[in-house]
Formats: sequence, structure tokens, C-alpha cells
Amino acid sequence: MAGQFRNIVILTGAGISAESGIDTFRSGADGGPSLWEQHRVEDVATPEAFARDPDLVHRFYDMRRAAIQTKVPNPAHDALARLDAQWSGELLIVTQNVDDLHERAGARRVVHMHGEHLKALCEACGVRSDWRGALIDRPPCPVCQARALRPDVVWFGEMPYRMGEIYAALRKADLFVSIGTSGAVYPAAGFVRDARQVGAATLELNLERSEGSGWFHETRLGPASALVPAWVEEMVGL
Ligand code: APR
Repeated sequence: MAGQFRNIVILTGAGISAESGIDTFRSGADGGPSLWEQHRVEDVATPEAFARDPDLVHRFYDMRRAAIQTKVPNPAHDALARLDAQWSGELLIVTQNVDDLHERAGARRVVHMHGEHLKALCEACGVRSDWRGALIDRPPCPVCQARALRPDVVWFGEMPYRMGEIYAALRKADLFVSIGTSGAVYPAAGFVRDARQVGAATLELNLERSEGSGWFHETRLGPASALVPAWVEEMVGL
């Protein structure tokens, strides 16, 4: 598959981290309850929820932040890191995930469009600081000392990060690959159409067909830990 391509954009979602034991949002890899079945989106993942009940929102994200630090990358993250290291053309891994498993696997060209669990955003000074602990006790911002830190996660109704960079990469892409995402949340769900518009080939790797599956030239169904290493092997060999 590799020969005809030079510039690759890869979109990843919760499905790539499912086999590392991190809950997906809408359908669990193990058939178990998804994150949003246990919490209503509007109770924890909107600016209004945070204004209404900051303790509830902090508790939810403190738990998730602690949990991801106990998880490890799986073969799908490892394979993308290898592709990143070996691909001499342009490559951008755009992840909707707020975990750091792409980075811990060794990937470098990663953009977190929905923010990062291991950062806190200060609502007073606007600086994003590395953060591994809890926020529920309102620790001071390391930069301005204001007790105004919030999870650095993009909530529903907020603007995703680094969209200019992402669209610039999509405009140049000749291959767009979507991995482990349900295609339910925009703007990420629209990337496949943006890629099609510039003539890129489009490939979906997912456990089941996503909502925008019809836009992909090719869909391969199965667990990311099997599909992604096999695809990377096609791209850069063993
Ligand atoms: N391998 C591959 N795909 C998988 C696996 C697996 N092991 N397990 C689950 N999937 C697939 C599911 O079939 C589903 O299509 O991953 C997808 C996960 O979809 P969602 O739970 O909707 O997650 P995602 O697409 O990342 O959600 C997008 O929505 O709630 C917001 O901000 C949140 O970033 C998130 C965004």
C-alpha cells in the first residue's frame, strides 16, 4: 500500500485505547458499559456542567486522570509510533483521545485536538501546565497562583485545539486513515470528507462500521491491536 503515498493524516479515537483498558465513550470493546452510559455527557463534559457543579466534574476527571496513568500502550499505539519513526514523508497523528498512550509508545507527530488529561488549564492566566494529580482541592496554578485550574479537556460546545494545523495537513494528505472512532463527533467526523475533497485515499480501521463509513474507500473491521500493526507492516515492512 505504501508506494503511492507520501503525506498521511491519521485520526484516532477511543477505540485505539480500548485494548489498553480505557473505556470508550459510546460502545465498549468488551461489550461492557461505555463512559457515557455511566455519566450523562451534559453532567460532566460541558462548560455549563462545570459552572453548575465543579466538584462533580473535577471528581470525574480526577478519576480518569489517575486511571490512565495505570494503563500502558497496546500494539496499535506501538505500530503507529513505529510508522511515525520510519515514515519519511509528512505524517500527522490527530487524536481525539486525551490519554498519553501515543506519546508513551514513542510517537512524536501527535496533535491532541480534544486536549490532554495530563494537563490543567488555568482559567485565570490561560496557561496549560503539566498536571498528574487531582484538581478537586483547587491547587494553585503553577504560573499565576490563581486557584482556577480546570481539566485541559475540550468539552462539548468548545473549540478543539490546533484546527489550523490539522486542516493544513488534511489539504496536503494523499492518505487519510481513521482508527477506532465512531465518527459521531464533529469536526473530526468530517475529516474524511475533507480528505476526499483533495483526492486522498481513505481507509477506516475499526471494530464496527462508523457513522461515516460510506465515505471511506476501504473499511477493515476488527480490533485495533490486530488491524493497525498489519496495516503499518504494509506501509513500512516488518
Ligand atoms: N479496536 C478498534 N475499534 C474499537 C475497539 C477496538 N478494540 N473498541 C472499540 N472500537 C470502536 C467502536 O466500535 C467505536 O466505533 O471505537 C469507536 C469508539 O467510538 P467512541 O466511543 O464514540 O469514541 P470516539 O469516536 O473517540 O469519540 C469521539 O466524542 O465524547 C467525545 O470528546 C469525546 O473524543 C471523544 C469524541
